[in-house]
Amino acid sequence: MSQKTATPPRDGFSSRFGLIAAAAGSAVGLGNIWKFPYIVGENGGSAFILIYLISILCVGLPVLLAEFIVGRRGGANAVRSFKKLAPNTKWPIIGWLGIIAAFMILGFYTVIAGYTIHYFILSITNAFSGMTSEQITQTFNQFSSGYAPIIYTIIFILLSVIVLFGGIKNGIEKYTKVLMPGLVGIIILLVIRAVTLPGAGEGLQFLFKPDFSQLSMSAILDALGHSFFSLSVGMGTMLTYGSYISKKENLASVSCSIAIADTMIALLAGVAIFPAVFAFGIDPTAGPGLVFITLPNVFLQMPGGNIFGALFFLLLFIAALTSVVSIFEVIITYVTEELNVNRRKALLLTTLAVIVISIVCSLSQTPNTFLSFNGHSLFDWMDLLSANVLLPIGGLLIMLFLGFVMKKDEVADELSQGSKSIKTTMVYLTITKFIAPLAIAIVFLTGIQALFH
Ligand code: PFF
Repeated sequence: MSQKTATPPRDGFSSRFGLIAAAAGSAVGLGNIWKFPYIVGENGGSAFILIYLISILCVGLPVLLAEFIVGRRGGANAVRSFKKLAPNTKWPIIGWLGIIAAFMILGFYTVIAGYTIHYFILSITNAFSGMTSEQITQTFNQFSSGYAPIIYTIIFILLSVIVLFGGIKNGIEKYTKVLMPGLVGIIILLVIRAVTLPGAGEGLQFLFKPDFSQLSMSAILDALGHSFFSLSVGMGTMLTYGSYISKKENLASVSCSIAIADTMIALLAGVAIFPAVFAFGIDPTAGPGLVFITLPNVFLQMPGGNIFGALFFLLLFIAALTSVVSIFEVIITYVTEELNVNRRKALLLTTLAVIVISIVCSLSQTPNTFLSFNGHSLFDWMDLLSANVLLPIGGLLIMLFLGFVMKKDEVADELSQGSKSIKTTMVYLTITKFIAPLAIAIVFLTGIQALFH
């Protein structure tokens, strides 16, 4: 019997829970547990949180929905989806920018992700026991400016490859369905430990009692920028996941669930961290070192602290892993579809490239490095350029594409799975055409300005 070589059906998420676990897994990452608490600390607490919530609602969420709409309608990688929806135009550039951003974010993100493995080991082996506060700081400074992070970064990348190997349904979905409930369980345990510490009330007040006198213009911009990074939007990640979503799913409700999950976990991370920081009289405005310097001090003073410390770094590890695989997927889906190679080969090529970029990023943190320009290391540049420039530009262009280029019928169809709801579509299109682009343009212009000062 002659056998026709039919193309196999495209991979995809097999259940709603799997889709939400994977997409929320992408959104919930180092941004929620490492960055959110320290920017809240630096910007005076709860007034900042309020601005952040408004940014998520008015900008982050509409961009997330836009990416899902373009991805599902296009049914392909970030570049090809635009090619299909707007043939012979320059719009596929959005996809290209996304791929560049993916390499840049992976470059620095996997380095910090590697730290979590080292800190997990330090905590579980009780290595901080007996250390003074200065010694804990020294441990971090010596580690982060040395060569050891390279090893942990490579280990982390190889662990991501295990998740990515099976594809969407049998890889990303399969693992995130287990990892995400695990993450929620750990954070709840840590929250219970933190709020039952004597003196925890002060930390909760810092988080939940707004003090608007602390709110500066730069805090507002930080909040808006962070809402992009935190929801993983502006670079085609959610667009790529969107291309694997079945036609049955209601994209608006899935997007809301993800935004709620992401915000809840960021807030819970704050509740797990600040009461403990205040209970032990430690400065809450410690900046990026909050997690790796301040928290080991906190755990050291806590009964059973090494176990809670290990749990915390495990939490950070899981959060980073489920985000890193989503960024990888932008590149892998592109390479498989455009270079016409199988997933295994695409994974190998992408992994090698990411390992090289991450090593260079990590080396830029060592003393006397030549990988530093204009007062920032290459590592910082990757972070600044992706979060302050590429993500806002990507988000802005996606909104403009959806608002002005894509056919209104197609948007309505994707929004309502066929039964066209004109009112929702009109409200959504007004946000996409005017409100969100304006807000993003402001963040972008200010972000650029900050880079060159
Ligand atoms: N949302 C992730 C976090 O908060 O850590 C970071 C991230 C993941 C950014 C995926 C962008 C992305 F495409």
